[in-house]
Amino acid sequence: MTEFVKLTYGDKEYQLPIVVGTEGEKAIDISKLRQQTGLITLDTGYANTGSCMSEITFMDGENGILRYRGIPVEQLAEQSSFKETAYLLINGKLPTQKELIQFSVLLNDHSLVHEDMRAFYENYPRSSHPMGILSSMVSALRSFYPELQNFGEEINMTVTRLLSKVRTLAAMSYKISRGHKVVYPRPDLAYCANFLNMMFDSPVRPYEIDEDVVKALNVFWILHADHEQNCSTSAVRMVGSAWVTLYAAISAGIAALWGPLHGGANQAVIEMLADIAENKNMKQVVQRAKEKNNSFRLMGFGHRVYKTFDPRMKIMKEMCDTLLDKLNISDPLLDVAKELEEIALKDDYFLENNLYPNVDFYSGIVLRAIGIPTNMFTVMFAIGRLPGWIAQWKESIDDPKWKLCRPRQIYTGPRETQYVPIEKR
Ligand code: CMC
Repeated sequence: MTEFVKLTYGDKEYQLPIVVGTEGEKAIDISKLRQQTGLITLDTGYANTGSCMSEITFMDGENGILRYRGIPVEQLAEQSSFKETAYLLINGKLPTQKELIQFSVLLNDHSLVHEDMRAFYENYPRSSHPMGILSSMVSALRSFYPELQNFGEEINMTVTRLLSKVRTLAAMSYKISRGHKVVYPRPDLAYCANFLNMMFDSPVRPYEIDEDVVKALNVFWILHADHEQNCSTSAVRMVGSAWVTLYAAISAGIAALWGPLHGGANQAVIEMLADIAENKNMKQVVQRAKEKNNSFRLMGFGHRVYKTFDPRMKIMKEMCDTLLDKLNISDPLLDVAKELEEIALKDDYFLENNLYPNVDFYSGIVLRAIGIPTNMFTVMFAIGRLPGWIAQWKESIDDPKWKLCRPRQIYTGPRETQYVPIEKR
């Protein structure tokens, strides 16, 4: 039986239906609010606004829960591969053996990118940030693969091509930025190992695939694979709602992810930890983060949804210790991170504001151990988030209640004003 919320406005009373999700989350359906009352809602930053109904990812920020298609992320990190998790997110179910093989074959078949795209890379200034390049390259795919613009049957093919090519594009960007020979994908290597090989193999120093590193990368990407309606995913849905191609929507998502408050935080965290290690200024950094009139924030801390530990952070921290141990690496930034976490978690400011370390706090240390350069950290996040963006985009365009995303506003500018000719101003 539908529950209602009563809204009294003026001398009228309205009944707004309550929508309930499968985990008991509730929302007030205001889709008829303006039509019935003339009112809109105002919610800066959308902190109280549900933009869609979705079957993909469940998050419970109060209890630190994250599940993809109902499966806890902890189980996927332990038992699944990134490829399988991508399939799960996009297709809504775990693949059978046969389906996984078919998916692998397709990923392999579409892993090359058009040779002419190399000219773009070669002409970008060498100092360009790889996220800017990736966003442009994904957008450029539309011109190189124009046959993929159809919404119909082609879509599964488009999705697989994008998943496969993005990894080649990222590794290519790295090699060319260093003036090195591009390494092509290999048919005998699985998704993660193939990426690592394209990044680090060299004619003079063949890359040796280490299963611990491959596992770490799988886990890293699984942990980033989806996170419901975050800033970049909302960008993908919003841009996609105008019926642009998947490439344009994903390119918008990459641009949004780049921001330091979102995916760009993983690079910002390492830069902050390196600054603390060099200048021994941990106390000042914590103090700056607490100052009311200072926009500086402790990077890798806080989250819009999690008001307790981010479950991804717990797995990442554990993996950080295990990987560094296995590779026999001692990273001074790990000690700085652990000390900083300890100080912040005892500090009233962080406790009162429910600020806990998020996924980005330890992820950079894992990426450093794998050998990924700092300016590519957010690209790594983007590759991981791609299945989530695709799944959310697909869900939005398949939604029978699909609508162009177009919020309203409350205007606060001047009332009607007369135009003054330039000579009279
Ligand atoms: N350091 C210091 N103060 C903080 C921090 C922080 N990291 N995060 C939030 N606060 C303060 C904030 O200034 C606010 O104070 P006041 O009420 O006095 O204005 C209070 O805590 C409440 O925070 P909020 O700004 O309302 O929280 P939000 O939900 O708008 O922001 C956030 C979420 C992630 C943007 C923010 O916590 C932040 O900037 N963190 C640092 C950047 C970061 O690590 N981003 C990665 C997020 S996880 C990866 C991803 O999925 O994108």
